[in-house]
Amino acid sequence: MTDLFAPLPLRDLEIPNRIAVSPMCQYSCEPDGLPTEWHRVHLGSRAVGGAGIVMTEATAVNPQGRITPHDLGIWSDDHAAALAPTAEFIRDQGGVPAIQLAHAGHKASKTRPWEGNVPIPADAEKGWEVLSPSPDAYPPFDGDRPSMREATGDDIQGVIDDYRAAAERALSAGFEVAEVHAAHGYLLHEFLSPVTNRRGDDYGGRFENRSRLVREVTAAVREVWPDDKPVFVRISGTDWLDDRESWTIEESVRLADDLAALGADLIDVSSGGIHPDQEPPVGPNFQVPLAEEIRERTDVAVGAVGGITEPEQADALVRNDRADLVLVGREFLRDPYFGLRSSDTLDGDREWPIQYRRAVR
Ligand code: FNR
Repeated sequence: MTDLFAPLPLRDLEIPNRIAVSPMCQYSCEPDGLPTEWHRVHLGSRAVGGAGIVMTEATAVNPQGRITPHDLGIWSDDHAAALAPTAEFIRDQGGVPAIQLAHAGHKASKTRPWEGNVPIPADAEKGWEVLSPSPDAYPPFDGDRPSMREATGDDIQGVIDDYRAAAERALSAGFEVAEVHAAHGYLLHEFLSPVTNRRGDDYGGRFENRSRLVREVTAAVREVWPDDKPVFVRISGTDWLDDRESWTIEESVRLADDLAALGADLIDVSSGGIHPDQEPPVGPNFQVPLAEEIRERTDVAVGAVGGITEPEQADALVRNDRADLVLVGREFLRDPYFGLRSSDTLDGDREWPIQYRRAVR
């Protein structure tokens, strides 16, 4: 039986266990997208803590794609060089360094959560014009709408090119998994969902058109990501808006198949984020049924995330064939050693680092 500490082989990469640190924005860059000591210590601690995969926060493929001025970015070679020591440290600890490549779309140009998470106008010192599939489609969760531009054909091509270049840089920095962020109401999800996409061109309307951008971005990343290394895509399995035309699990299953055909190796299944009327049934494992459904109805591996806090709970998801990988977010903020704790609890094979062994033996 496969359990949480069974290695996960994807292409030629063997992920040592099924626990991943879910991507989590730290909003801790100076307004330049470069990592700071905070990122190195934050990601490094979780690598010491036994995660099989340590994934960076949403890392913007261009400056316009940041949620806040303090987000991490990878739009220049300097950004890649600054991330390289962290990727190397994660590998040295026996983990797999992964990077989430992101564009925030219409949810960009905001203050940090602890500054109110409010839109920064484009003409303010730290603000910028944001990109959206449709001019007035996105209802803000809070604050006024920032200044927004409907993506032109050139903008769309620019986003695809920026994803490709970001993936090339991520590879040069030493990352072994690239994850395309297509969830949570950010740009690629804004194109997928009929709630935010009202376009009349090849990128709007029917499923094939709404999903065109995420397919083109995934193909562009795949083009430059080596054949022996996996690509993940994080999607929102549903918009949780059953009362209106919206993105559903049916479309997610179809998309997962399409992305797998383009070379995606794992679908990381989250949900929501597109509209403030969403009604997610939050609680332990609340998104797992979405991952499970994609796993059952396609041939692609899936990651489950959301409300997973206990080693036994994570282990049961793998043992019961509900998910191939378990991504853990907030519990890893509470306890950077969640991986080691899980190994101790479940008789896994992950050893405490030699420097710490006098504390546990
Ligand atoms: C997040 N989340 C998130 N998701 C993502 O895809 N990219 C990101 O950069 C972030 N940033 C982020 C920051 C912080 C502080 C939190 C708490 C969350 C969502 C996260 O990856 C995860 O999907 C959710 O937190 C649900 O999982 P948990 O926390 O219940 O394990």
